[in-house]
Amino acid sequence: MPDCVVRAIQEHIALESREGGYEAAALKAGEIDGFYTSAGKLLGCKPTNVAFTANATDSFSRAISSIDFKVGDVILTSNEDYVSNQITYLSLKKRFGIRVVRAKSLSSGGMDLNDVDKCLRNYSPKLVSITHIPTNSGLVQPVAQIGKMCQDAGTLYLIDACQSVGQMRLNVEDLQCDFLSATARKFLRGPRGAGFLYVSDRALGLGLEPLFIDMRGADWITADSYTAKPGAQRFEDWEFAYALVLGTKAAIDYLLAQDMGKIERQIKYLSHYARNALQKIPGVATFDKGESPGGIVTFHVAGSDAQSIKQALSNMGINVSISNRDSALIDYQDKGVDWTIRASPHYFNTLEEMDYFLDGIKRIQAAS
Ligand SMILES: Cc1ncc(COP(=O)(O)O)c(C=O)c1O
Repeated sequence: MPDCVVRAIQEHIALESREGGYEAAALKAGEIDGFYTSAGKLLGCKPTNVAFTANATDSFSRAISSIDFKVGDVILTSNEDYVSNQITYLSLKKRFGIRVVRAKSLSSGGMDLNDVDKCLRNYSPKLVSITHIPTNSGLVQPVAQIGKMCQDAGTLYLIDACQSVGQMRLNVEDLQCDFLSATARKFLRGPRGAGFLYVSDRALGLGLEPLFIDMRGADWITADSYTAKPGAQRFEDWEFAYALVLGTKAAIDYLLAQDMGKIERQIKYLSHYARNALQKIPGVATFDKGESPGGIVTFHVAGSDAQSIKQALSNMGINVSISNRDSALIDYQDKGVDWTIRASPHYFNTLEEMDYFLDGIKRIQAAS
């Protein structure tokens, strides 16, 4: 997190401890409202189309819970969708008898748009739900093209933008989605425990509301009825970590003050540099498919194990994470390995840092 994000959170916690939680929120009401304006600028929508949530999964669950699934309804998704989303589809299948259809993947990576088109015509899905950048690879799904197809088919469309927000320009008008779920803590450089959800005017106009709507999302008007709030606020809970709302706002403002195109190019450049060099190290394989991979670099080192690599890099001051087979079951079947190491260079990383990381991998490989 940049210093301004940490400061925004700490200052609000200090204000809460001095004034009281409700009083602090009242004193900061203007800035708290500013979160919605900032998130709207980031995504290209009105502030009233944004809900603050606890994380990307929370955003996703709230969105998907608003759809009135019946037995036989179809969710069209991808083989590469995020693990928790896949589990949610299966949970909906178990409880409501929906069908989960996964469009074919191209051998070069990513969804086969011809098959998406075929699935839209054959299954008339109730929802198309796609993870923009899967957690376990640099693959970038063609979400704008799919948005156009969903618009033509009149299908509800949900994008999981957890890994793309802050990494590349996102405009919900161009993406033509009804929902976009995001987290604060990843490429956006915001705090943990915070996320947000975009809800389109179309979805709001259809009266979609989360299953567990509460008193922030709705007004209780008679003993047996309530009315949902007009905007995306209906997707929020009454209780919030306001320090994190302000921290997320600070992270978005920090990003908005920079050139998003440059950020995206720099992330791609560093990731491409790392992938190229990794491929040249004997015994090291990279696994990021697609025409123009993004900022998640995944690789495997033969003869070594994931935990030792992570530890060795950590000893050098480099943070990476491990993706295991069970985080992307279908994808890993094709890749033929049980784990990969995931490195996510950001725009603030330098080529010297990338070389330092690559040297580390060379040494780990030589010792394995
Ligand atoms: C693609 C993708 N979607 C969703 C999530 C879930 O995000 P959160 O942990 O903020 O709920 C992740 C987390 O890694 C992710 O990579």
